Amino acid sequence: MVEIIPLALPTSADAASLASFGREVRGLSPGELNQDEFQLVSDLLYQHGLLLFRNCHLPPAQQYALTKRFDPASETYGHGNNEVDQSKRSILHPYLKTIPAVPQVQLIGNGTVYGHEGIAQANLKHATHTISHKTVLSEDEMSKGYTRFFRWHIDAALYNLSPPKVTTLYGIQVPQGPKQTVRYDDGSGDELQVPVAPTAFVSTKTMFDMLSPELKSVAVRGRVKYAPHPYVWMSTAKLVNNGLAVETEGREVPYEELPPWEESKIKVHPMLWKNAVTGELHFQVHPTCAAEIYVAALPAHSRKEGELYPEGAHLTDLKEVRALLYQMQRPAIAPKFVYPHAWSEKDLIIFHNRGLLHCIVGTLSEDQVRVFHQCNLAGSDDPIGPSDDDIKKWV
Ligand SMILES: [Fe+2]
Repeated sequence: MVEIIPLALPTSADAASLASFGREVRGLSPGELNQDEFQLVSDLLYQHGLLLFRNCHLPPAQQYALTKRFDPASETYGHGNNEVDQSKRSILHPYLKTIPAVPQVQLIGNGTVYGHEGIAQANLKHATHTISHKTVLSEDEMSKGYTRFFRWHIDAALYNLSPPKVTTLYGIQVPQGPKQTVRYDDGSGDELQVPVAPTAFVSTKTMFDMLSPELKSVAVRGRVKYAPHPYVWMSTAKLVNNGLAVETEGREVPYEELPPWEESKIKVHPMLWKNAVTGELHFQVHPTCAAEIYVAALPAHSRKEGELYPEGAHLTDLKEVRALLYQMQRPAIAPKFVYPHAWSEKDLIIFHNRGLLHCIVGTLSEDQVRVFHQCNLAGSDDPIGPSDDDIKKWV
């Protein structure tokens, strides 16, 4: 019998806000779904953003096949097969190891792993704030269990390839350890108690719903231009403490020093991505890869008072771009809106990569071994923005 049950939320969560976010699915084998079962799973995913299956057996080839069912025309890994392995300048390079037989599936985690799926030895590193953030917690603070978010993101190359529709994350070995406390250190005093090395998720539907009317109007009219090779571009820059933005200090790699790039491969996406099943709008912006913002002018004859950028705008000043995005995104990462998943071995999470942001969290020592398989596939199309009716409704 198939059971669909709400996720177990931590006490930090606002249960009402997260009521429709995520579901645990019992009674289905995600690697062996028949067509009706897959359709159910797919609908649930777009409705709830995240699905959890416990005690799964899911070899890499099955994980790839499952991920591909959500976008059958997709072929390559979200960043391109073997691309990240070979691009040593990308900030993703240290964290992703390609599974040789199934290059769309990546080995991620922490510690040293031997003889894994054709990889003789992998030295995995849990992405942690100490290498990415402008200021870091002291050894003393970390020994007391304080930690930070790493980088809030969408899984997407954001150059040349289209954003994956879903990501599958499969926990093979899960480290044990005491709870940690995420400190936002952004002036809010916010803190979030989390299990060891969770993956944190926030709904970008909630992110949109929470905006003021003025910012909703900007969001329906807004588009974001991403930097070429954004993960190389920002590799030399540092993040703000809560992992939601880059500090603007002029440290990005200049465009002329990036690997070769073409204007035609640069990605410009709407700020809002329309959910393929529910029609809802998700504020789906990768904050640390964004370089410029376009805001369309208000439609003719619409009321202009109180509106931001009534005549439209093209923001190219990074400080201004990041300040606007931060203002729009920060409210939705407040502790009560975060679902930090406490992993158990053999958990499979499928998440709607066009409907939420997620973040690696926590600090692990070398002996806390974490072994995960991750798969997402570059989308076969680009996300769809708000419809004319959406624009009419929100400007
Ligand atoms: Fe990710």
